[in-house]
Amino acid sequence: MSGLDAMEHDDSFQLETLAVRAGQVRSQFNEHAEALYLTSSFVFENAAQAAARFSGESPGNVYSRFTNPTVTAFQDRLAALEGAEACVATASGMSAILALVMGLCSAGDHIVTSNSLFGATQQLFTTILPRFGVHTTCVSQTDVAAWGAAIRPETKLFFLETPSNPLTELADIPALVAIARAHGIRVAVDNCFCTPILQRPLELGADLVVHSATKYIDGQGRVLGGAVAGAKELTDEVLKFLRTAGPTLSAFNAWVLLKGMETLSLRIHAQSAAALELARWLEAHPTVARVYYPGLPSHPQHKLAQRQQKAGGAIVSFEIKGGRDEAWTVVDHCRLLSITANLGDTKTTITHPASTTHGRITPEQRAAGGITEGLLRVAVGLEAVTDLQADLERGLAKS
Ligand SMILES: Cc1ncc(COP(=O)(O)O)c(C=O)c1O
Repeated sequence: MSGLDAMEHDDSFQLETLAVRAGQVRSQFNEHAEALYLTSSFVFENAAQAAARFSGESPGNVYSRFTNPTVTAFQDRLAALEGAEACVATASGMSAILALVMGLCSAGDHIVTSNSLFGATQQLFTTILPRFGVHTTCVSQTDVAAWGAAIRPETKLFFLETPSNPLTELADIPALVAIARAHGIRVAVDNCFCTPILQRPLELGADLVVHSATKYIDGQGRVLGGAVAGAKELTDEVLKFLRTAGPTLSAFNAWVLLKGMETLSLRIHAQSAAALELARWLEAHPTVARVYYPGLPSHPQHKLAQRQQKAGGAIVSFEIKGGRDEAWTVVDHCRLLSITANLGDTKTTITHPASTTHGRITPEQRAAGGITEGLLRVAVGLEAVTDLQADLERGLAKS
């Protein structure tokens, strides 16, 4: 055991310190960097110990589908950043959302969420979960009263993604928490776009935070991962599903994500500042009809963003004058920006949501969510903003 173990419980450290230090437990070799435990199972001293570990009578690792020390370090570090009592890691962001619902909901339960969600999350809620008797009502992200009006006696969960992908619409976390609390409903927030560095949903009253760690937590486009953080009483329910069904995080990915978290604060602040600069430039561009960025005063929820987030984040979406042809012209003229669906990378990416990330939802769902044919999403990385502008300008000038 080392002095670092105590850190997990020290609330006085700043987020930057926790991101580098929290969760690490040194082995008998006293390694400085976090150890990577690439092992599927753990050895017992005797049959009695094996039995006690399996029954849960004695603590300790059994099998990496249940727990693994590298994964535990990742969970503890993210829990510290989110100010959560506990965290469970998953194989991807989508499996975190699935595990959350499987842990908290049963057939007959009802979920309220918004029209403005990541495409796969929408698919999960509207096409897969109904087959298992869990039904969802999608309302306008920004219409607080609509969330309240959608509540039924069997409503168990409000699921918020804020800011949303790709339109950066905000959900008012404290306002929605107040409504949910009055009805005994749990609130889960997908904190993928802001990360705990820019937004701490649990402090604002949410019960659970969900992450696609694939995005900013890795930050370099290497691995997939996810997590659910919150009160242990709730994450234990999620863990019951995970350890049985199996979409757990691999030790290798947990190790990559641990190292990613060490630079999270530096990256998200720098990427956010660059995104604001790019958003201002796009807003002044003659071929751009509209820019969606919470850090711009023109964003309809700019004031809420200032209250709820420390900065606007690194996603800038914009509507080109015209439709799909004009949007694709901008994409096809990019030489620097990567044409790829991922976001949160140090390398800037560009996506046409209507034909990619949101291509599998219905045209009606796209229309309800404001995903038009002229919409483009840029996930700003760490390149010089002037180089990004020059790359986009080539296509914008031709669109
Ligand atoms: C907001 C949001 N939540 C969840 C996910 C799903 O994460 P993953 O791709 O790690 O499954 C994504 C992926 O883009 C996302 O943008």
